Amino acid sequence: LGFVPRGRQRTPKLDKLTKEIQLNMKNSAPGPTFEQDREAVRVRLQDIVTRCNSFPSGTELHVFGSSKNGFGAPNSDLDMCLAVPEGSDIGDPAQVMGRLAEDLEREGMLEVSARLTARIPIVMFTDGLTKIECDISLQNPLAVHNTGLLATYAGCDVRVREIAYAVKRWVKAREINSPSDGTLSSYGYVLMLIHYLQRTPGSPVVPNLQSIAASWSGEPSKVYEGEREAKLRYVQHPTEPNSRVNCYYYKPKGEKERGRLKDLSMRNRESSGNLLAGFFHYYGFEFDFRKHVVSLSPQMLEKDLMGEVHCWPCHLGLTIQDPFETFYNVGHVVKLWQFHRIRREFARAYTVLTEGGGLDMLCEKPEEV
Ligand code: CTP
Ligand code: MG
Repeated sequence: LGFVPRGRQRTPKLDKLTKEIQLNMKNSAPGPTFEQDREAVRVRLQDIVTRCNSFPSGTELHVFGSSKNGFGAPNSDLDMCLAVPEGSDIGDPAQVMGRLAEDLEREGMLEVSARLTARIPIVMFTDGLTKIECDISLQNPLAVHNTGLLATYAGCDVRVREIAYAVKRWVKAREINSPSDGTLSSYGYVLMLIHYLQRTPGSPVVPNLQSIAASWSGEPSKVYEGEREAKLRYVQHPTEPNSRVNCYYYKPKGEKERGRLKDLSMRNRESSGNLLAGFFHYYGFEFDFRKHVVSLSPQMLEKDLMGEVHCWPCHLGLTIQDPFETFYNVGHVVKLWQFHRIRREFARAYTVLTEGGGLDMLCEKPEEV
């Protein structure tokens, strides 16, 4: 495997790859009414939740995940969670979610099933009208916030989404995107991508949205001077009532603010093809998984220095720090032998692309072993 120096010239080969990456997003991304259509489903379900007597008044249904984070596909499932008003007692979560499942069935939802004893109880079903696969969990505010964070990164530059769609196609095709089989969630791969795009040679493709906001509360950064309305937002942790989580990130409000983020990204002129190859090289050959944590923190975090509360040192393999729940390892689902497979897949992907193979070859089904 040849080493490609950082900041290399763009090659015609990777220009062709860039076109393929752009076409792939065009073919995979949903149409312009995607979010509205899903909002209509949410509104119908909100109505069911409100009419049924299982939850206190003021209980809200929120959408999170790929229906809203900028990386969704027409066939993505619709992830939702219920937010009950602070201070209200709903009783036994398993019981209320069980009642919700019955209500949903009565209201025409199909294939209703539930996992009531999970850390976060969840009801799964297919919407009778649109046939979209849905799931509703209870109290998952952090997922709503991390979806907003990912959506803001997705909006920084079109290349973020282009590369993410290629990566999502690759992980699904190579069968390394299934937490129940010991590989990594899409959420984990998107965090890995953002970590890399924050560290691209020369200029980062995306800034650190959480530290922009942090600098506003203390010393405003030069770039964002005068725009200090970001609010420090704390959210109650769903399973640890005494801990509060800082869910602070820079969320641009109008076109002007969005434009500023885009201008920052444009300082990096690499093509999506080169960035995708760079991403594979970074995790295939450069990143020291034994020593470092994949994180959206501005510093490179070392596992040994994470302290006892963080369970990082015991992980030999992949550790990915959640951007808000900083003590939570998103990679905890990854089994060690699967992690080695994933690393080999990164190395293979880099080789395929730099030897002129396109997206189709990158996303070939793995050979049976
Ligand atoms: N999530 C989370 N913590 C995890 C995994 C997921 O908070 N360890 C939340 C995130 O808000 C994420 C959402 O659940 O956006 C959905 O996760 P996932 O299914 O991995 O990602 P999707 O973007 O929905 O991808 P896919 O299209 O593959 O379903
Ligand atoms: Mg999903």
